[in-house]
Amino acid sequence: MTTLWLVTSRSFDNSGMPTVTMIGGGQLARMTHQAAVALGQRLRVLAERPDDPAAQVTPEVVLGSHTDLTALRKAAVGSYALTFDHEHVPTDHLEALVAEGVNVQPPPRALIFAQDKLAMRRRLAEFGAPVPAFTAVESVRDAVGFGDEHGWPVVLKAVRGGYDGRGVWMVDDAEQAAAIAGEQLAHGVRLLAEQKVSLRRELSAMVARSPFGQAAVWPVVETVQRDGQCAVVIAPAPELSEDLAAQAQSLALRLAAELGVTGVMAVELFETHDGALLVNELAMRPHNSGHWGMDGAVTGQFEQHLRAVLDYPLGDTTPLAPVTVMANILGAPNAPEMSMDERLHHLFARLPEARVHLYGKGERPHRKIGHVNILGDDVARVREKAERAAHWMSHAEWTDGWDPHDEH
Ligand SMILES: Nc1ncnc2c1ncn2[C@@H]1O[C@H](COP(=O)(O)OP(=O)(O)OP(=O)(O)O)[C@@H](O)[C@H]1O
Ligand SMILES: [Mg+2]
Repeated sequence: MTTLWLVTSRSFDNSGMPTVTMIGGGQLARMTHQAAVALGQRLRVLAERPDDPAAQVTPEVVLGSHTDLTALRKAAVGSYALTFDHEHVPTDHLEALVAEGVNVQPPPRALIFAQDKLAMRRRLAEFGAPVPAFTAVESVRDAVGFGDEHGWPVVLKAVRGGYDGRGVWMVDDAEQAAAIAGEQLAHGVRLLAEQKVSLRRELSAMVARSPFGQAAVWPVVETVQRDGQCAVVIAPAPELSEDLAAQAQSLALRLAAELGVTGVMAVELFETHDGALLVNELAMRPHNSGHWGMDGAVTGQFEQHLRAVLDYPLGDTTPLAPVTVMANILGAPNAPEMSMDERLHHLFARLPEARVHLYGKGERPHRKIGHVNILGDDVARVREKAERAAHWMSHAEWTDGWDPHDEH
């Protein structure tokens, strides 16, 4: 009886354009709204607070929690498709919405592999996709046994709910493994153990796929992590062989099709010292490794995600420059006294080519509060500029000691 109320005739707004609802009001939703504006739409968001990054900019805000089915229903009413800026919506809720006629993209049967690292590892292993050796950890003995068998160090991970390196523990020996596994299991955290990969670097292969089945990939990028968090992205990945790039792209296309992914998906990859690829994890939403494309590709990930969930034809993913570097603006240990407005003013005076994206977030140590994209020809120079610009924006310090008052 309650099953029909969501299937309204009003999937389109008064101007005849569809409304997409995104669950989560963070920066990914904010930048998706920015892309929606160009397509004649407004993004509706389910945000926890009125000052969340996306809630500040779209008029279509439903306040509530992504774990509350009533709030999810309210956000879905009359929207053409429902999608996500994070992977934390319980799949039971999503199944309920699907049963009530909501067009959930990506569907819960695909999303589960971005939510649950153990389900993802098992499914990918079944496909024959390359993954590190892993095992479920249900007891301290499982964790210690895995390390003894595969060699120390190992990585322990929370099966669900990790982000920005939270929920990931590098473990050197049996004693540490016992301590961490014991503590986490006692708190009801489900765990897995995997081999610590000796990696040359981390890569990301981003793909978009529509319900119709059209798919498009961007060039494979290198992601540089600091303290378990993405700091810099270089597009395309420097000195990546054509063969490895093609392998990564076909893997992303294959996974998207086999898992039934819709919208954009980032396939986080490890490149090993002997030139092999291993899948780290999947993100079925716009991802930090795709921010470069806002300025550096014909079609960026945010517009592509909307096109994909709306089942529009996908956009051209060709880069606009030989290299684009994205540097995250990460909150400094102590927020500078200089206002963000003044920092921006100085940045633009020094680097007019910097493309800045600010998320409207308060400054806290390590928090992602924005990013800078720089396009150019020479990887080292472009990277230096992008990192210098991002550091300036968070610390109000030039890494090369530059002082405008010294200039004559
Ligand atoms: N098996 C591994 N071997 C070596 N390093 C690893 C391994 N697993 C994770 N890492 C390192 O830890 C980082 C975070 O791990 P992972 O991506 O699984 O966690 P997350 O918190 O879900 O990530 P995100 O920051 O993408 O939200 C990786 O980017 C990588 O640098
Ligand atoms: Mg990750």
